Amino acid sequence: MALLPIRLYGDPVLRRKSVEVPEVSEEIQLLARDMLETMYDADGVGLAAPQVGRSIRMLVADASHKDGGAGGRVFINPVILEAWGELSYDEGCLSVPGLSAELVRPEAVRVRFQDETGATREEEFHRLWGRVLQHEIDHLEGKLFVDYLSPIKRALIMKKLKQLQKEAKSGIAL
Ligand code: NI
Repeated sequence: MALLPIRLYGDPVLRRKSVEVPEVSEEIQLLARDMLETMYDADGVGLAAPQVGRSIRMLVADASHKDGGAGGRVFINPVILEAWGELSYDEGCLSVPGLSAELVRPEAVRVRFQDETGATREEEFHRLWGRVLQHEIDHLEGKLFVDYLSPIKRALIMKKLKQLQKEAKSGIAL
């Protein structure tokens, strides 16, 4: 297993639309394990393949500490079939470190996806699980949570981001 470098805001790979995974190969299974390890190491609850530089439709998530479930899950070629309800949540992103914003999204989603064995599944996800899946599936479309903010809120958050970059002095790509 290996930790993968997480791409940061400003990296063009985060804006690319990802392509379908044609087959759940051993390479894909290994990537899923590395993504889970990388997500846990970064204290994240979700990580999408573009965030580790791969424009393919897969993501990992684990919201079980907060909203139940068995632990880390792998979602390959996920599709949101239905979304309902409403929930406000303070949302952040491992590619936009140190920043978060209150965002309203549907509370629940029904998702069709393939698991790490390649089996097709269809399940409902609520609360934090539902939130993480919507956020990560956005990543597969090249969309980031800051895109939902009002222009004023977005300008404020970008200012903070630039400040963080200056403070880091370590060449974070913006
Ligand atoms: Ni994210």
